[in-house]
Amino acid sequence: MTTYDDREEMAGGRRDDRDAARVGRGSGALPSWVETMLACPRCYMVGSLRFVETSATCGVCGQTCPTRPHLDLLYGKRPPNEGPGDSAEMVKRRMIWERRVALGENDGVGAGDRAALTAYVEAIAGHLHPDALVVDLGCGTGDVLRRLGRAYDEPLRMLGLDISLPMLDACYRVLRAEPRAVAARASTRRRLPLGDGEVDVVLRRLAPALPDDVARVLRPGGAFLTASFGPGHWSEVYDVLETLPRPRPAPPAPRTLGMSPARSEVTEGRETLSPALVLTRLQAGPAASHVVPARDLPLLYALSERQGAPGQLTLTTEAAVAFSTREGA
Ligand SMILES: C[S@@+](CC[C@H](N)C(=O)[O-])C[C@H]1O[C@@H](n2cnc3c(N)ncnc32)[C@H](O)[C@@H]1O
Repeated sequence: MTTYDDREEMAGGRRDDRDAARVGRGSGALPSWVETMLACPRCYMVGSLRFVETSATCGVCGQTCPTRPHLDLLYGKRPPNEGPGDSAEMVKRRMIWERRVALGENDGVGAGDRAALTAYVEAIAGHLHPDALVVDLGCGTGDVLRRLGRAYDEPLRMLGLDISLPMLDACYRVLRAEPRAVAARASTRRRLPLGDGEVDVVLRRLAPALPDDVARVLRPGGAFLTASFGPGHWSEVYDVLETLPRPRPAPPAPRTLGMSPARSEVTEGRETLSPALVLTRLQAGPAASHVVPARDLPLLYALSERQGAPGQLTLTTEAAVAFSTREGA
């Protein structure tokens, strides 16, 4: 069913709403837990950032972080394996894909992705307690946090971290009706701007993470949940578009870091999509730079003809959710 929110989002949101959401999350409208829980990205002191108007300044080392238009906690030297995050074009495609998946209840489009998200959100909710602190690494548009908020009525503290500025713009819009969530700019390939043992649940879906830093920020008994696509996911597409990198499951957190052995659950399914929507999805993710529409679209269309439904692809989906907990509870 299309809700008012979905329709407004499809139209891109009203400008005054979007601005209000952006400014609101970068000003005094931030929930109070943000100030007490965040660590200075330079000296790592927890609770030392003081938010005043358009910036947050560390009372210990004096580091200043902008809060408008984004709460920007990116600091330090860029590691060689760190990219800029998703581009504005990728964000646009991801929004198209996510809206289509949200509306697909009526026609089966994106059924595999919806089932995977539902399984992920249910798994996360199983690790929550009222007022839990949930941190989503590489949170993208904030879709997972929004779904989590809808599934969990109790007080919650949700922090989404992403390095991409256009992605944070999208995230503010998606989360504007969720007062329990805050998005900030940070790299998940660097030390997280959080104290030791503060976090109840760390999430990682299709995004980078440093396992030892995840273990550092988790409280004893806290959970690390990862969601990824298995090797069978959209295998029909990858068999035809041979130059595309295939999905790889996220590696489990190593036991040497004090994490319990990961347990995983796989959700398998089928979904139907048009070749154009398949390309949109591929261009919204890590395969984006490998896609050549003029070459790939005819190949996908030919596949749909071989499947017996020209213009309609039926694809295998395989999504995995794995979780491990920080030992020592
Ligand atoms: C494939 S998207 C997944 C988004 C979201 N987790 C989801 O499941 O829809 C990967 C996200 O990670 C972000 N990202 C990439 N490198 C990052 C980094 N070093 N630090 C933080 N975010 C990063 C990208 O900007 C993008 O939003």
